[in-house]
Amino acid sequence: MKCRGDPAIAAAAAAIGVLCVASAVLLGLVDGATEGEEPTTQLLNGFTAAHAAGAPAPFQPVLYAPSGAFALGFLRVGAGSLDLAVVHLPSSFPVWRATPARLGDWSRPATLTFDGGLELTGHNGGMLWQTLGAVGDVVVLLNSSNLVVRRFEKTLPEWESFRHPSDTLVLGQNFTASSPPLVSANRRFALRLGKAYMALHMEFYGGQTAPAYWRHTALMAQPENATEPPVYGSLDARGFFGLYLEGGGQRVDVLSFDTFAQNLTAAFRRMTLDDDGNLRAYYWASGSKAWASDYRAISERCDLPTPCGAYGLCVPRKAECQCLDNSTSTAGAAPSCHAEETADLCAGNQLGLGFDVVRRKRVSVAYKEELPFETNRTAEECEAVCAGNCSCWGAVHSGASGYCYLIDFPVETLVYEADDRKVGYFKVKKPPARPGDALASAVLSLVLVGLAAAGACIGLGLQTGGCKRLF
Ligand SMILES: *[C@@H]1O[C@H](CO)[C@@H](O)[C@H](O)[C@H]1NC(C)=O
Ligand SMILES: *[C@@H]1O[C@H](CO)[C@@H](O)[C@H](O)[C@H]1NC(C)=O
Ligand SMILES: *[C@@H]1O[C@H](CO)[C@@H](O)[C@H](O)[C@H]1NC(C)=O
Ligand SMILES: *[C@@H]1O[C@H](CO)[C@@H](O)[C@H](O)[C@H]1NC(C)=O
Ligand SMILES: *[C@@H]1O[C@H](CO)[C@@H](O)[C@H](O)[C@H]1NC(C)=O
Ligand SMILES: *[C@@H]1O[C@H](CO)[C@@H](O)[C@H](O)[C@H]1NC(C)=O
Ligand SMILES: *[C@@H]1O[C@H](CO)[C@@H](O)[C@H](O)[C@H]1NC(C)=O
Repeated sequence: MKCRGDPAIAAAAAAIGVLCVASAVLLGLVDGATEGEEPTTQLLNGFTAAHAAGAPAPFQPVLYAPSGAFALGFLRVGAGSLDLAVVHLPSSFPVWRATPARLGDWSRPATLTFDGGLELTGHNGGMLWQTLGAVGDVVVLLNSSNLVVRRFEKTLPEWESFRHPSDTLVLGQNFTASSPPLVSANRRFALRLGKAYMALHMEFYGGQTAPAYWRHTALMAQPENATEPPVYGSLDARGFFGLYLEGGGQRVDVLSFDTFAQNLTAAFRRMTLDDDGNLRAYYWASGSKAWASDYRAISERCDLPTPCGAYGLCVPRKAECQCLDNSTSTAGAAPSCHAEETADLCAGNQLGLGFDVVRRKRVSVAYKEELPFETNRTAEECEAVCAGNCSCWGAVHSGASGYCYLIDFPVETLVYEADDRKVGYFKVKKPPARPGDALASAVLSLVLVGLAAAGACIGLGLQTGGCKRLF
């Protein structure tokens, strides 16, 4: 879910961490709660920390940055999962998460050990996550929030969290073409770097199909020049995301934020790929109560990839979603037209399942320029190209120009456009198994989607500024 900042974490962890550090340093005293204990700022070989099954606080810190602003610890995720995370304590926002393929279980014990590398083990001794290939003497959390495993005698880290981002980049962190992609917490969207561009992708079939829905090419890069090195990106305290050439570091583009040139250099900044697929920058000035956002890659709600869910129709300038098949019209952004598809149509064809067809006028795709297309086609030809190809889920014909855009991934939200010549053709996979089961599961998934949406709205409603919808 979008709002991961939990006020309880800030209250608990900040009270233990930041205040105690401050009072210990300033007054030479320690707070009663942690009497005699210095906050741990390094882990040595042989270190072990245990997660107490079902611990009441949602974050259990085990290692602090010297500034006291960040801690590494066990984090409760969602209803009852466990992950390892670096949390920004004033806001309780996790700036880094280990995000193993299989999360731990908060209601059972877990262990974090350091023995050359860090290792998170689940309740039955099953390894959940480890720093692969690292052999170090000490683990520290830097003031930048970078979690580092290093040798005593070396300054270059053996392993660092900055090279393994989850959904967030922070100041001082380089995002390069060789970095793993930034992946939203719900794992549906990813940010990747190309040689001279950055792009946002939807992730289907476990990432095997990843169509782009937003792309930004570095203004001054020359991608056609084979000897020019690739770009990397990094946040700048002055309020922009810069793209630079690897090696020399020559700046080739700037995505500037609303606070650019406002001299907020003391603020802590992050850039996060949010669960709605938008890439946003946020800052936290000292004394802040909430994150403020000063940049978003996509500014119109209907230009996001899935604001109305699968087979939804987004109407610009209206806070309303419709369904491509006219079945329902829902207030707000509740995605409830169709369950998300998880398998491709070619597999369904082999099982003899086939598909139904929905046609709709006045539709367009927000990210047309990212789709494969054919030119000089009639609407009928456009439809036929898609109908005969099982990797095609839909086709949008834009009348006047004769352009035919092909959707070769499960159909997501389309955009309403008041032009009768813009017509769409969409395949809807036939449900498998017995009709009774299918109906029940369709109803169930609608209910679940509805509940999830309601939960998101309640969550959003309860949270303060940083989690506000930006539309
Ligand atoms: C980290 O922050 C603390 C407190 O702000 C400061 O005393 C310390 O010098 C910083 N460490 C580094 C390496 O900058
Ligand atoms: C990021 O890249 C710059 C330029 O190459 C380099 O000076 C800096 O040390 C890098 N930062 C990290 C954390 O690797
Ligand atoms: C290609 O890139 C290299 C390295 O940045 C540069 O030295 C060279 O001048 C470029 N060539 C052209 C034709 O721009
Ligand atoms: C920005 O702030 C710093 C310290 O707060 C100050 O020294 C500097 O002059 C300011 N710069 C501008 C351009 O306002
Ligand atoms: C949906 O409604 C519109 C206008 O009411 C109509 O033109 C269109 O054919 C309908 N589409 C479907 C799939 O029923
Ligand atoms: C477009 O298609 C028509 C017939 O299908 C053909 O005669 C014409 O040359 C085509 N135009 C272009 C620009 O390809
Ligand atoms: C079917 O569509 C896919 C993806 O758009 C394309 O790569 C492939 O060439 C098409 N196959 C045929 C037979 O047209």
